[in-house]
Amino acid sequence: MVSKTVSPATKRSLELLKRRGNFIVEFEFDVESDITEEKIGDAVAVVVPIPLELERVADLAKKIRDAAPAVLVCGSIGVPDQKLWLLAERSGYNLVSSDGSIGGTLLRRLASPDKGRREAIAVMNSSETAGRLGLLGTFEIEGKSVAIWRSGGRLGCLENVCTHSGATLSEGDVEEGVVTCPRHGSRFDICSGERVRGPADDDVVHYDIFEKDGRIWVVPT
Ligand code: FES
Repeated sequence: MVSKTVSPATKRSLELLKRRGNFIVEFEFDVESDITEEKIGDAVAVVVPIPLELERVADLAKKIRDAAPAVLVCGSIGVPDQKLWLLAERSGYNLVSSDGSIGGTLLRRLASPDKGRREAIAVMNSSETAGRLGLLGTFEIEGKSVAIWRSGGRLGCLENVCTHSGATLSEGDVEEGVVTCPRHGSRFDICSGERVRGPADDDVVHYDIFEKDGRIWVVPT
């Protein structure tokens, strides 16, 4: 299932699916009006152009997922904009590929036994964090706010919400791999989310995070 608005390069690339994978590729679907369960409920994958308006990137992925939770959400991107690419991955696209190679990428993914599994998402380039300690950044990952720190020789990623009464953890101090909530002082390990000190009773949700190939990756839960 492919949006009518994809580029000619995307269309050519998706011919691969027909030829090599024996898939039915349907081009007649309108991103604006046809994202409904009726239209895409039986699709294996939906390919749409990544919107250039940043605020629409997450909306589009959510709209597709709401209509068909099991479908692979695939974004084709026509501009060499790494920030846009990273944003799309963080917003819930199962895969993002350049216009001309989406067919091959999707074919490999559909052949994989765990094709629906979310893969690690690149959130930052390591070069942006060189020499920095403490809070490295906050991001939206599939609608959840997360914070990333480097402290005590470790890299950690937690949901950016204190379990005591909802303060924003990224606004707290971090020391030796432990972040202190700015509101009432609960403390949490930045890697495991474990509560080190109350008043909070519960741990914070943590995300696996690693550095590879010059990027920092977070694994969605
Ligand atoms: S809100 Fe974090 S300790 Fe109270």
